[in-house]
Amino acid sequence: MNLIDGGVVPASTLIGVMTTQPTLNAPEEPNFSAGEATVASAPPSREAVEGILAGVYDPELGVSVVELGMVKRIEVFPDGLVSVGIALTTAACPLRGQIGADVSSKIRGLPGVSDVTVDYAEMTQDERSDLMQRARLHASRNAPSTAIRATTRVIAVASGKGGVGKSSITVNLAAALATQGLKIGVLDADIWGFSVPRLFGIASRLQAKKIDGKGMIVPEAITFGDGEVRVVSMGLLVDTEDTALMWRGLILAKAFEQFLTDVAWGDLDYLLIDMPPGTGDIQMALSRLLPQAELLVVTTPAKNAQKVAARVTDMARRSYLKVLGVVENMSMFVAPDGSEHAIFGSGGGQRLAALTGAPLVARVPIEPSVSSTGDEGTPIVIGVADSAASIAINDLATRIVSELLPPVEMAGCTARLLDLL
Ligand SMILES: Nc1ncnc2c1ncn2[C@@H]1O[C@H](COP(=O)(O)OP(=O)(O)OP(=O)(O)O)[C@@H](O)[C@H]1O
Ligand SMILES: [Mg+2]
Repeated sequence: MNLIDGGVVPASTLIGVMTTQPTLNAPEEPNFSAGEATVASAPPSREAVEGILAGVYDPELGVSVVELGMVKRIEVFPDGLVSVGIALTTAACPLRGQIGADVSSKIRGLPGVSDVTVDYAEMTQDERSDLMQRARLHASRNAPSTAIRATTRVIAVASGKGGVGKSSITVNLAAALATQGLKIGVLDADIWGFSVPRLFGIASRLQAKKIDGKGMIVPEAITFGDGEVRVVSMGLLVDTEDTALMWRGLILAKAFEQFLTDVAWGDLDYLLIDMPPGTGDIQMALSRLLPQAELLVVTTPAKNAQKVAARVTDMARRSYLKVLGVVENMSMFVAPDGSEHAIFGSGGGQRLAALTGAPLVARVPIEPSVSSTGDEGTPIVIGVADSAASIAINDLATRIVSELLPPVEMAGCTARLLDLL
């Protein structure tokens, strides 16, 4: 690879790295056993609670509260109550509410949790010095393992089975969020089943650029209103079907990892990841590389939600990822006379929500224009903005922005302490 400073080359030249370093004997990782897992919700283990708290970051330091030693106590009771003690640098820490809410909402996402209580204590001087040391150590490690900043909210759009509308929801949600003036990354993690480029109508190839001495893939940027969507997909790298076939045998997780480490994502408000159907390598890689990721589970209203719920619950439990919410797609068909028809059954979203303990956050109706606008490469929220499906997806975007804690930048207790020490 020969990158001239400041110049651009096709990004596909960078992907060659994948062919040289296949991890043939990868360390054993837990296997998702699709389908057969139990949905019944025994209380989570202490380790599972600690595991999920590893994805809660101190908003200022960008370091996990577990790594910072802020989690002082975890108790799990037989009825599913989880009680957590958090030590703060100062009792009046302005980030207290935010950290507490994040801790609580992450734990609530675990199967088997009935309630969460969080109480706070003030650190001793020794504990404070220890925290600062850990924070410095973290900062000195310097090279983040991915190019995704700690303040970026990561939402993986997943499902227990294929064809339920993950890609359509991802692309439309990205466009809806961008029109609110946000910067949104879209990573197409369906490496060989990619559909994101077509849905956004992107025909160009990604370029690579040398940034700080390192060759980086530059995402394709599309402007929506005051915001922007930055897209990376294998479909924007491979030229022909033959090239795709050549790479088909490679370890998918390696390509996914490269999309997180070698892409100049820049400063993003949200990163949406369009996951491949089901559970497997990519899901494991996601939880390893981005433990702060939250799952948005898409389902149809079909009644056989039990098996799908089992898969999703199993995936969430093994990967410590929080289930943010359930989206029921293809919910009902609204005829021109206003009558509603439950073509694919009803109640699937509600049942999956009940079984996973996550809220049902949207119901998107069946609309032929979801498909037709997708084929034309214009998201329906842009192409037919006043349709019922667009309204449902726009509402979902607003709900995500207003109900989830937004990434913050404020001077608070830990940063002030760093200055003082
Ligand atoms: N609300 C909807 N109304 C009508 N058609 C829809 C709707 N949502 C998705 N579709 C259509 O259903 C098909 C599958 O959708 P999509 O490709 O988004 O699903 P997916 O879950 O990403 O599939 P895969 O598992 O193969 O990646 C597409 O043709 C899409 O246009
Ligand atoms: Mg898809």
